Amino acid sequence: MKKDRLWQEWHPVLKETELHEDPKQVHILGERVVLFRNEKGVHAFKDLCIHRGAALSLGKVKNGNIVCPYHAWEYNDEGICVKIPALPCERAIPQKAKATVYHCQVYAGLIWVNLSEQPLPLLNYPEYSREGYRTVICGPYKVSANAPRVIENFLDISHLMFVHGGLLGDEDHAEVQNYDVTFVDGRFITSEIPIYQPNPDGRSVGGYTDYVYEILNPTTARFTKSVEGSREEFIVLITVVQEADEQTKVFMLLTRNYDLDKPDEPFVEFQDLIFKQDLDVVESQKPELLPLDLQAEMHLKCDALTIAYRRWLDELGMETGTTPNYRTKREIVPS
Ligand code: FES
Ligand code: CO
Repeated sequence: MKKDRLWQEWHPVLKETELHEDPKQVHILGERVVLFRNEKGVHAFKDLCIHRGAALSLGKVKNGNIVCPYHAWEYNDEGICVKIPALPCERAIPQKAKATVYHCQVYAGLIWVNLSEQPLPLLNYPEYSREGYRTVICGPYKVSANAPRVIENFLDISHLMFVHGGLLGDEDHAEVQNYDVTFVDGRFITSEIPIYQPNPDGRSVGGYTDYVYEILNPTTARFTKSVEGSREEFIVLITVVQEADEQTKVFMLLTRNYDLDKPDEPFVEFQDLIFKQDLDVVESQKPELLPLDLQAEMHLKCDALTIAYRRWLDELGMETGTTPNYRTKREIVPS
């Protein structure tokens, strides 16, 4: 089974505040994963009991262990089975009785899981904990599309004037100035791109906004918006988990260094609206696998960022954000 780069990435699966005393099931690249919490922190296992394959997520947490709902085998947070109620007490628990443990950590308000034994480093989002900055998490939004289509839409500049006309762009200011894309410290970053925005963050203050985009990994990107002469910054980080083929869950972190005393809700509502505007278009895009062959679609100079993204995915040998046997499966489905 081919496992591409996505298997080594960290996947955002849940807001940290949404994991309580009961275990929760999430999906990553077609895998069923259970999350649970004990006094040591948050843990992620394959959501499968080795006894008879029941979903551990239907069970409960008892004394810091996760208990299978079917025959109550108990696994500690290292995945070792520590109790089998049906076993006569003189019999030792078989060593094979283990759950598959995944790497799991909490960062920037989200729970991240890595399915690989050789995880890549987790992304860095310094503004999340920077003094004078405040972050609110939006989503998760569900999208019937593969992760690279979702990320590419976030990186697409020339749709702002049409899909988000009156808010993030204006049809009469549709030209995109040339900009540079450079690869520094393992990530892509653009020069400042001025975009005329009637309403850049829901506060109805129109004018030119400078965008600096960054691609942090194949499923995470961000931009920083600022206005010349102002110290206000508005940062949006998008990070997605591909749950299954054409099924993606999206989190967006909105970070600002102004209006810190104002409520977050208007910012969230504004982002919900923007995301909704993108949804139909992204779900309509064909082919579902982002074409990495640059001859396959047409490109303009203003698409430099999305071209860089496609080239990078190609260099990384990605199957454009799919579960391992996706391409094979697609090939045998008659079109
Ligand atoms: Fe889990 Fe039997 S299937 S204890
Ligand atoms: Co959009």
